[in-house]
Amino acid sequence: MGESLYPVPAQWAANALVDEAGYNAMHARSVEDPEGFWGEHGLRLDWIKPYSTVKQTSYHKEDFGIRWFADGTLNLCANALDRHLATRGDQVAILWEPDSPTDAERRITYRELHEDVCRLANVLKAQGVQKGDRVTLYLPMVPEAAVAMLACARIGAIHSIVFAGFSPEALAGRIDDCGSRIVLTCDEGLRGGKKVPLKANVDAAMDHAPGVECVIVLKRTGADVPMVEGRDIDWHTATAAASTDCPPEEMNAEDPLFILYTSGSTGKPKGVLHTTGGYAVWASMTHQYVFDYRPGQIYWCAADVGWVTGHSYVVYGPLINGGTTVMFEGVPNYPDPSRFWQVVDKFKVEIFYGAPTALRALMREGDDWVKKTSRSSLRLLGSVGEPINPEAWEWYHKVVGENRCPIVDTWWQTETGGAMITPLPGATALKPGSASKPFFGVQPLLLDNDGKVMEGAGEGCLVIADSWPGQMRGVWGDEERFFNTYFTTFAGYYFTGDGCRRDEDGYYWITGRIDDVINVSGHRMGTAEIESALVAHAKVAEAAVVGMPHEIKGQGIYAYVTCNADVEPTEALRKELVQWVRHEIGPIATPDVIQFAPGLPKTRSGKIMRRILRKIAENDVSSLGDTSTLADPSVVDHLVENRPALA
Ligand code: WTA
Repeated sequence: MGESLYPVPAQWAANALVDEAGYNAMHARSVEDPEGFWGEHGLRLDWIKPYSTVKQTSYHKEDFGIRWFADGTLNLCANALDRHLATRGDQVAILWEPDSPTDAERRITYRELHEDVCRLANVLKAQGVQKGDRVTLYLPMVPEAAVAMLACARIGAIHSIVFAGFSPEALAGRIDDCGSRIVLTCDEGLRGGKKVPLKANVDAAMDHAPGVECVIVLKRTGADVPMVEGRDIDWHTATAAASTDCPPEEMNAEDPLFILYTSGSTGKPKGVLHTTGGYAVWASMTHQYVFDYRPGQIYWCAADVGWVTGHSYVVYGPLINGGTTVMFEGVPNYPDPSRFWQVVDKFKVEIFYGAPTALRALMREGDDWVKKTSRSSLRLLGSVGEPINPEAWEWYHKVVGENRCPIVDTWWQTETGGAMITPLPGATALKPGSASKPFFGVQPLLLDNDGKVMEGAGEGCLVIADSWPGQMRGVWGDEERFFNTYFTTFAGYYFTGDGCRRDEDGYYWITGRIDDVINVSGHRMGTAEIESALVAHAKVAEAAVVGMPHEIKGQGIYAYVTCNADVEPTEALRKELVQWVRHEIGPIATPDVIQFAPGLPKTRSGKIMRRILRKIAENDVSSLGDTSTLADPSVVDHLVENRPALA
């Protein structure tokens, strides 16, 4: 397919914060003189005690460490709220759209948000929460989720959000790992007209999370949920009685802000730790430049706060920047596939930031659902979570944006805190499917399999050469895992886990994960996690999970399962195993295919040959490669012959 190029529209080049020349100059300075560059841009925040040092970072074993603005002090909540009160106290900070279009929206001003946050912060303090304590949030997309994050930041508590689609088992594991004594949840969530029993899930998690002493319960649906005497507190009653005065805690730049669990290629999900100063600089600066954001513009990031995108681009980035951020409780196709664009029209959204999986699902429903809405307020579109295929990109550009709106395809990770490779709308000509160029301070490199730096055009492993302020600082509770996971594959570089191509123009094209992580609808799943859920079932002896191409989700989950010798692999068992995985992890981990396998292809030393399993899952069986090193090559024939027909 010929590659198209979309030049920067003239009015964007003229009016945006940076044009192409500006970007080139700023990027060059950011990598040549990081001290000077970030020393200046760190001043975008209000510091209590100014920093005198900027960058103290090393990726090398001898002196490994990542510290930014290390002797400065600040409070992130004060940066997101208090400092706007004098100038924009009555501006809407959060514009909330409920699940059902017939329910009323909520418009919460900066002043009201400040009050709500202070009240909840005082409730947390009254429950004994102190600076450095972990607080688990298991909340749907309601404004109170943002209130809870900011309340934690205000008193220096570390929030750990667990996506409200995770099961009680997954929730318990995350509560336990970070030692939270307190959980904030709600009676029930509401998504696409369906109720999600969040409080019941928390209750069920308690068997495996014995350290929890207090659960604060928000009313959303008003369902009659049992409250445990002495442990459970009603959110509204407690906050109504609390004071609206709560001075922000003075935090060091390197004090932890939040933990967010994410899947890796091995082991349990890890608690990615972000700290205060560098993260706040990164979230706010990327938000401002990537979206060319001006305070007060109506901006909508359609991500859930349970994921990092929700942290940086629903809550922290936009609020630090004095923005009006839309929070949407529902789903793109409820009550019908026009919903996104109806909300755009209702609130006159100027900037819309969404995920390729949602766009592909909507594209399949046909253009009429889009075209019957106006969308005339839209100026800029964004994409995040997985590579956007050029076909979906073109549709987004032409049908949703009516050829008027640039698309910023932002590549980044939970670990990076914010966008890393991304166009800037006034500076970067666009190529559909390419995340394009590095943000300020980012030095991407491609390495070949021997770890040699590649020059010019080519495809290799994507690493980042030097630290940036928004970089994660550690894995909660496991210092070595941080270094071992990210800095040992290629010594001296941050390893992203992604493959990438660079073209003749220096544009980056992410090709997807090259480790054992699969990306299902923009959600990261570790294959090891799903495998250990499967083998935890009494009838399963062994399991191997790989990704398979999926039209809507990007990747689907393909599981090979070997049953215990006395077990008959039936259709009923297949269904039971699908339910089992949903129960162990959550619906996002639902296997798309389970293939019963009497044996798995293994090397003579017993290592499962995933490369072969991937090929079979992709139905690319003509190129299985060399199978002669297998302990028993006939298992491959059996797998190929018995590959289930896919729907
Ligand atoms: C993938 C989400 C291509 C990538 C912010 C990365 C992308 C993983 C893009 C991180 C993009 C995210 N183009 N791939 N624009 N954005 N990815 O931690 O594989 O949930 O490593 O962070 O998603 O997923 P995570």
